Amino acid sequence: MSFAEMLESLPIPILQAPMAGASFDAMTVAVSQAGGMGNLAAAGVAPEEMPAVVDDLRARTDAPFGVNLLMAPPLKPEPAELDAALARLAPWYAELGLPTPDHPNRFSYDFDAQLEALTRAAPPVASFTFSILSPAQVDALHAAGSYVVGTANTVAEARAWAEVGADGICAQGVEAGGHHAYFLEDIEASSIGTFALVATVRQAVDLPVIAAGGIMDGRGVAAALALGADAVQMGSAFLLADEAINGPTWQKALSAAPDDATRLTRAFSGRYARGLENRFVREMHDEQEKVPAYPIQNRLTQAMRAAANQAGDPEMMSLWAGQAIKLAGPGAAGELVKRWWAEAQEVAQALARRTAKT
Ligand SMILES: Cc1cc2nc3c(=O)[nH]c(=O)nc-3n(C[C@H](O)[C@H](O)[C@H](O)COP(=O)(O)O)c2cc1C
Repeated sequence: MSFAEMLESLPIPILQAPMAGASFDAMTVAVSQAGGMGNLAAAGVAPEEMPAVVDDLRARTDAPFGVNLLMAPPLKPEPAELDAALARLAPWYAELGLPTPDHPNRFSYDFDAQLEALTRAAPPVASFTFSILSPAQVDALHAAGSYVVGTANTVAEARAWAEVGADGICAQGVEAGGHHAYFLEDIEASSIGTFALVATVRQAVDLPVIAAGGIMDGRGVAAALALGADAVQMGSAFLLADEAINGPTWQKALSAAPDDATRLTRAFSGRYARGLENRFVREMHDEQEKVPAYPIQNRLTQAMRAAANQAGDPEMMSLWAGQAIKLAGPGAAGELVKRWWAEAQEVAQALARRTAKT
């Protein structure tokens, strides 16, 4: 079966976005069981734990699911760079009553080790974000029995993924919550709206396209399919779901968000990501280009974000959310997926009636 046929065989062409820090196995299983496709964010899964995590999903659903890795580069910062970055963060740690952290031994799990473990674990779908695999790495995943999906913010990135042999493209528009996938150009050149991105990737690349960014309900699902997407990937729409693990402080901030509340910021992680604007985002705005690259800054702010969460203080947390977050609502993830698909079908029927008028 081709990847296009696999997507076509899904009762509901809605993929739940992998969301590191906001969703894990329960949401993945719930969405796959409901007829969509759940995706597990495995960025925080140690290589040695990967087989058990994937086997557990396989045991809990016969339906297809995906596992996602963030492709963190193996950066080795100079001590002076770490000192400067920690000095910038020191007032924030002090405000939380914490000492500035020591230099960490490690900034993220080793991507090559995670990839090797994931390839051995052979999930039905493996997706990748922040960089691109080599053709040999894609071949190894195929040999193991996994479809490969590459995340792209631009048409050039979609073409690059097609060239290394990916089976599908996740086209992530600038509306998207969380980290953005850009890896060929800077954030400015990679900030393309979902409408424009999906239609131009569809035209440029002969692979299934999964539309992501700003899709929050059945209207968005129908619109993305009309633009030529084979399926959609929704993240922010699940942030208030029963299975979400982002916790009460983040969820309260989402529920209380004012209009147009999100910004792209590099300050938390060293890579542009979209979330609610808070004091950290505002006050670090002019410094954000100076902070060390992902995953270094991400690791250096980790204890700050965790302590703020513990203290119930949303002003120093990374409150990832997409531009359309005001449309998010509560519910069981499986029920949400079914409801959005029913809405999409109604929207399509209403459109068919409207466009049939002469
Ligand atoms: C809290 C959060 C965490 C995310 N974590 C990941 C991740 O681990 N891997 C990934 O490829 N994308 C991640 N994303 C991006 C999503 O895959 C997707 O592109 C995005 O949610 C789509 O836009 P939307 O939020 O408007 O639905 C994350 C998004 C959010 C909101």
